[in-house]
Amino acid sequence: MEVERKSMDAASRRGLGSPQTRGVPLLDLGRQHGPLRDKMALAVAAICDSGKFVLGPDVEELERNIADYCQSRHAIGCASGSDALLLALMALKISPGDEVILPSFTFFATASAVTRLGAKPVFADIDPATFNIAPAHVETLLGRKTKAILPVHLFGQSADLDRLGALARKAAIPIVEDAAQAIGAEWQGRRAGCLGAIGCFSFYPTKNLGGAGDGGMLTTSDDALADRLRLLRTHGMRPRYYHQVIGINSRLDSFQAAVLNVKFPHLDEWTRRRQENAGRYTELFAEAGLDRILGLPCTDPNARHVWNQYVVRVPDGRRDALREHLAEAKIGAEIYYPLGLHQQECFGDLGYGVGDLPETVRAAREVLALPIFPELTAEEQEFVVERIATFFTRTTGGHTLGGPKFLKHPLARNASADMDAP
Ligand SMILES: Cc1ncc(COP(=O)(O)O)c(C=O)c1O
Repeated sequence: MEVERKSMDAASRRGLGSPQTRGVPLLDLGRQHGPLRDKMALAVAAICDSGKFVLGPDVEELERNIADYCQSRHAIGCASGSDALLLALMALKISPGDEVILPSFTFFATASAVTRLGAKPVFADIDPATFNIAPAHVETLLGRKTKAILPVHLFGQSADLDRLGALARKAAIPIVEDAAQAIGAEWQGRRAGCLGAIGCFSFYPTKNLGGAGDGGMLTTSDDALADRLRLLRTHGMRPRYYHQVIGINSRLDSFQAAVLNVKFPHLDEWTRRRQENAGRYTELFAEAGLDRILGLPCTDPNARHVWNQYVVRVPDGRRDALREHLAEAKIGAEIYYPLGLHQQECFGDLGYGVGDLPETVRAAREVLALPIFPELTAEEQEFVVERIATFFTRTTGGHTLGGPKFLKHPLARNASADMDAP
């Protein structure tokens, strides 16, 4: 007990002290878990007592919570966001010879779900303002073999589901949403995960709703697809030891569901704080004149952004030097992603070359994610911005910062206008 109490005190003490001496972590889950620790421990203990470790009532409760939250008729728990993508494509019978269009600027799992089924990922470029898949490019890639479009709601902002939806309807193919980073995001008031045929979510600890390990969820309002997903996640077995189809073992374990059910009621408040933090960065950058150097993230007017990441663009090849400068002050910053997937060695045989997907390549060179987690303090944000200002003062010799380096999305609003209505 004493050991437990001490580690709790240490967790709740984290977050105190000056950012100048302590630095600013990219993510500090201890601050989020500190106040919930007792409830989480009780929920986990109850699972031990029940002996129901796989699927079971806690998973069912989480599935109801997520289905409701994502405006979907069904939610189906599985072992990870990567498996959610794989299961979604399996349910849609994607197979060898098929093509699936997806952005190159995303996490690897979006594409590996396609290749694991023997199908071919066809990479589309991104909209430079939102980092999301560019519908105009998708249109040029659609062909006879295209069997699905797989947009990613990157960094917490929905892709343009109007234009993608129109393309998918015309081609009579489904959309599978990779909403791993975007629980609660919206497109014109409709939640990520309910806009396509199937939505795929991740509960990896860094996500806006993160578990204590791996976990994933699928959403759909199609009864037949929901039934097939449930079948596929348990080896295609129904009834027990009778296998209707070849599925996989991808069940959500009860420990994860129990922890996630404790955290779930706080999700909206955490999102609100992420939005507040995004708005504060944007104001602080503007006050420091840094909005004329950095490309600041912005929100499509049709979208509700949930800010899994706050990603700036750093021009003129100075991104890595800025990251090192921040690391010296113990400020965490990450590069999502240093290469487009079409540039990855493992996809070399797909034949992409220099000059392909230029916006993806440029983003990979420029992006830098800054701390945005809900418990981040204003003081910490001020310190982050001050260190970035110091970097540019040093490298530009304190001279005028020049004109805007990045063109704004014509319709975009910046993060300071991004708060949800109360
Ligand atoms: C866009 C995207 N897709 C898929 C995944 C895979 O999720 P998981 O790590 O739960 O397998 C992630 C996780 O990082 C992701 O960011």
